[in-house]
Amino acid sequence: MAEILQQGNLYHLRNDHISYIMAVMPENVLAHIYFGGRLHQINADAVLRHTGAGDTKSFTVQECGLDRLPQEYPAFGLGDQREGALGIENADGSVAVDLRYVRAEIKNGKPPLAGLPATFGDDCKTLRVLLADPCTRVQAELLYTVFDDCDVIARSARIVNGGTRDIQLEKVMSLSLDLPDDRWEMITLNGSWARERSVNRRALMPGFQGAATQCGASSHQQSPFMALARRGTTEQQGEALGVSLIYSGNFVAKAAVYQNRSVRIAAGINDADFSWKLCPGEAFQTPEAVLVYSQSGLNGMSQEFHALWERHLLPHKWVYAHRPVLFNSWEAAYFDFDEDKLVDIARSAAEAGVELFVMDDGWFGHRDDDTTSLGDWFVNRKKLPGGLERLADRVRALGLQFGIWMEPEMVSPDSELYRSHPEWAIHIPGRAPITSRHQLILDMSREDVQDYVYRVVSDTLKACKASYIKWDMNRNFSNIGSAWLGAERQKELPHRYILGLYAVMGRLTAEFPDILFEGCAGGGGRFDPGMLYYVPQFWCSDNTDALCRCQIQYGTSLFLPPSAMRSHQIAVPNHQTGRVTPIESRFAVALGGCFGYELDPRKLTDDERGAMKNQVKYARESEDTRLHGTFYRLLSPFEGNDTAWMAVSGDQSEAVFTFVRGHALANEVPALVCLQGLDPEKVYTVRETGESYGGDELMRSGLLCPVDGGDAASLLYTLHVSGA
Ligand code: DGJ
Repeated sequence: MAEILQQGNLYHLRNDHISYIMAVMPENVLAHIYFGGRLHQINADAVLRHTGAGDTKSFTVQECGLDRLPQEYPAFGLGDQREGALGIENADGSVAVDLRYVRAEIKNGKPPLAGLPATFGDDCKTLRVLLADPCTRVQAELLYTVFDDCDVIARSARIVNGGTRDIQLEKVMSLSLDLPDDRWEMITLNGSWARERSVNRRALMPGFQGAATQCGASSHQQSPFMALARRGTTEQQGEALGVSLIYSGNFVAKAAVYQNRSVRIAAGINDADFSWKLCPGEAFQTPEAVLVYSQSGLNGMSQEFHALWERHLLPHKWVYAHRPVLFNSWEAAYFDFDEDKLVDIARSAAEAGVELFVMDDGWFGHRDDDTTSLGDWFVNRKKLPGGLERLADRVRALGLQFGIWMEPEMVSPDSELYRSHPEWAIHIPGRAPITSRHQLILDMSREDVQDYVYRVVSDTLKACKASYIKWDMNRNFSNIGSAWLGAERQKELPHRYILGLYAVMGRLTAEFPDILFEGCAGGGGRFDPGMLYYVPQFWCSDNTDALCRCQIQYGTSLFLPPSAMRSHQIAVPNHQTGRVTPIESRFAVALGGCFGYELDPRKLTDDERGAMKNQVKYARESEDTRLHGTFYRLLSPFEGNDTAWMAVSGDQSEAVFTFVRGHALANEVPALVCLQGLDPEKVYTVRETGESYGGDELMRSGLLCPVDGGDAASLLYTLHVSGA
């Protein structure tokens, strides 16, 4: 049960497993006291004496200074030499901010955040704390939510200019958290296109470390996620603290170790090249950040993230709904198709039991490659003479749903849209626009562009009566300038872009609640909790190689659930790596997310086509457990040759276990993998082998994983409680 207690000068937020405590100090300074496992009470004075910051009675700013005091929302310029959460250029040009506690209130539930995606729910409590600078009258309204059913504190800040002159926000973090010691290791997810979200772990060092982007998106290279884990913490045990941001644009998530070995972590919009003009009476709302705490290792931390997003963030209509087994045309045909070819492919897919056919890139303007036509969302009659309508009808006549690809935020210089509205592209007047993948980005901060994007997507979805849309985004920012914003607001563009994107996604998903929206950004280049508020699933990576996907999906699962990852079985040799992997392994790995196909089914052998039918059947039968069961990472592809993960149904009666051996090894013993999350009292039978084991045996002694058959051999086991 979530509760917020006021204990003297302390506010104590807690549920059955975690506590978060702050103290109102003398002179109304708001100190941070504790975040971790649930407490009955705390001696705040002892905590503060450890920092050398005085205590809750003797503290004064003059005598004790702010530099050692753990704080809830530190500002810069009045004695705290560490990095502040808030940076302001005041009307007089000075940069000092002095936030003092004014009042707080406790509410049931959770208010929405204006213009931004955020967690929601009734089974939670929210503390609203008001701080104000007595000199400039700038206010900070801090929200803290504690949930009944997730070990998470959600935080955000709203800054109000209560003064009489304009100010300039230079930095405004969603959260800042001071921890008393630095005996942590940091985990971040880093990579590149086709190599998203590799797990990187290193000891915390003095100075700054973390993740940040400046490319306009959460990106392939970084993820809005960071974890601190104690040195001995493994997947299965130990203390871990996770941070994530519900945001899709430029972000920062970082930790700094300071002189007294304390750690300050911060997450929010990246303040590099950010600035926001705030006129008197105006407010600025930060994105929401979440803090997860686990004493059950990294799996425990990830399970809290997964539960939070599924229960309190993803579109409710879709979270637990059946995700159709889809067939995507991209790797089957690329730009080279016409109506008959697509229908032919769709027929073959339908015979195997696929449920949804998706026409990917290449259907509009005169697009036969990636150099042209983005923005011209009218059908290419040479390829589809009967228009979208006839193609979609023919696909539906095969018993399939119809889905479509769009990249609505982009414009090709070679397009009618660009010729009529060059000012709609992000650009800096006087500088030659720099294209990437031959395209420019529409300025989503503009209301006319937002209306245009809304209209073309809405019209397209209606025209083909789509059941699904893949919303792609294939390049990052350059020449960052907006013809719409004045000179003093150019640094607002990246955030205004994201607000514009969210506004359009919000309108469209409200207008088409029955259409399944899937996100994509050259693969997983904007796969973040902000997008997941609108789209329940995201194309995980353009890299479809089974071994590479072991790493990508393993890393992604640190903070995002299998139900949000789109994963396809593909043809071999793989189009990105050239590797040939067994069909069983491509299937087993693709089952780690929402399952589908991306190959030309007409080129499969009879045996493979037969296998496809069984695969679709299995994917559907196992969907609930795979996508919504409790997910456990067992063996890390970042630490060895083997990958293993499993998902266990809520009632522990079923589990799906996946094991992949990377390179074939000579004279190697089979792996013995200890499973997780089973009922130790029950006996489980492995459907594929017919063998039975005790749940305790599987978790303590392990499951033998004999594989042969060369590189990337795998096992896919379905475990059921015997006799159930
Ligand atoms: C990038 C996506 O990740 C691919 O799946 C495909 O849709 C292409 N874009 C199409 O241009």
